[in-house]
Amino acid sequence: MMLVTICIGSGCHIKGSRQIIEVLQAKIQSHRLEAQIELEGCFCQGHCTEGVVLKIDGVMVTGVSKENIEALFNQRILEVLRP
Ligand code: FES
Repeated sequence: MMLVTICIGSGCHIKGSRQIIEVLQAKIQSHRLEAQIELEGCFCQGHCTEGVVLKIDGVMVTGVSKENIEALFNQRILEVLRP
């Protein structure tokens, strides 16, 4: 099970963490990865100026946006689970 944690603190919220979650939920569903990925929210990770911040199995990724979330999902999540 891969754990993807998205910061929902106010800094990341303002930068669109809600939309990032929605994109991830849609991608997980369309690739039928519900049993392999756990999505969860977390509070401020102390990198607000670099938001949106998420963690993939504990590895922090900063600067996540609706422009790059799709590439990030493909490279850091999909390719790991379905090499
Ligand atoms: S609000 Fe996300 S790192 Fe601070």
